Amino acid sequence: MSLIVIKNGHLIDPQTGLNGKRDILIDKGRIVKIAESISPPPGAEAIDVEGCVVCPSFTDIHVHFRDPGQTYKEDIFTGSRAAVAGGYTTVVCMPNTLPAIDEPSLVRYVIEKGEEAGLCRVLPAAAVTKGRKGKELTEMSLLKDAGAVYFTDDGAPVMDAHIMRKAMEFAGSIGSFVADHCEDLSLSSDGVAHEGEIAAALGLPPLPPEAEDTMIARDCVLSMHTGMPVHICHLSTKVGVEIITWAKAMGAKVSAEVTPHHLYLTDEEWLDFDCKAKVSPPLREHEDIEALRWALASGIIDIVATDHAPHAHQEKMAEHQHCPPGMIGLQFALPIVLELVRKDYFDLPRLVEVMSINPARKIGLNPPKIKEGETAEFTIFDPTESWEVNEETILSKSKNTPLLGRKLIGKVKYTFYGGKIVYRD
Ligand code: DOR
Ligand code: ZN
Repeated sequence: MSLIVIKNGHLIDPQTGLNGKRDILIDKGRIVKIAESISPPPGAEAIDVEGCVVCPSFTDIHVHFRDPGQTYKEDIFTGSRAAVAGGYTTVVCMPNTLPAIDEPSLVRYVIEKGEEAGLCRVLPAAAVTKGRKGKELTEMSLLKDAGAVYFTDDGAPVMDAHIMRKAMEFAGSIGSFVADHCEDLSLSSDGVAHEGEIAAALGLPPLPPEAEDTMIARDCVLSMHTGMPVHICHLSTKVGVEIITWAKAMGAKVSAEVTPHHLYLTDEEWLDFDCKAKVSPPLREHEDIEALRWALASGIIDIVATDHAPHAHQEKMAEHQHCPPGMIGLQFALPIVLELVRKDYFDLPRLVEVMSINPARKIGLNPPKIKEGETAEFTIFDPTESWEVNEETILSKSKNTPLLGRKLIGKVKYTFYGGKIVYRD
């Protein structure tokens, strides 16, 4: 169908100042008209989205699609399918695959697989150090030329400060950046759950927040001294928020992301001893959540990223020490961030900034725009529809989330990418 009219949507695009009810006419994948009322031309498909929001589709700069090497957990097709069902049309795959993405041929492999899947833009981040071993820097220029959009050893920190400084300087000098999984391994040790009352009561090995905080502080100081950018992955602590606030005030080029699970769930998820609650960094306390939410509202945190981390059922059934950390997230980000809009932390245009505009810009892309002349790349969601998280509604290959069986409010109805409908509820 080459002509489509989207009727009665509430269009929101902070880039153009759009925030109101309009119709959209799409011809051969391009937005040709936006107006208060458009009568469908002969032969057009009319889609009535009364009550729904239409906004630029989302970008997730932090997902684990496990390809190559662990495609029994997820692959680039199933990951893409979950992404578009979550309203995303760009995702950045983490390099902690088997082998790690530390060579140009592997960068190209991820890009080609993403193109084959054809549902959304799948871009790779490459490793900072060879094999993610923390010792020797990768060939960043070659990796960037092959298509790597940034550098991270995610899943593990860059522990050595000297290597981190060199990595920041090098990545910055080629117009890229390093993103760090902030965890001082000498402090986190064999910790499993956030160090607090719950870990103590359940006898779970504690993981102190200062394992994250000290590493954030180190990275901020390095960024300040080198003048180079650093991006803080999955920020989860209230002290981390304070450190980043200080570093930004000092003019450091620091950016930060937060995950939906750290915005929504606490360490109380451990109370039924279910390792689905195990994630790195760990779920923390109410005070942390509150600090993260306000930091997202105020701009101290720039980006929502899911850290979508699929693991097989059997793996998550293992004892807490042996169970891998991680939970899926692509389909839950929108409803969780919408919950913050409902609770008045911020408004819908800010949701679009943190889920679409800021993450796209961070990786050097022009964010999708709802504007005449642009290719249709937007998400249509019903902010009031309630749905249950279960084996059927989850489109990811793995179903590892503590949200199983719970109801969320806010459902993606359509995702447009490259002028086409790539997801329809
Ligand atoms: O919980 C996590 N899981 N955190 C990470 O940093 C890595 C990820 C994974 O790869 O499973
Ligand atoms: Zn991580």
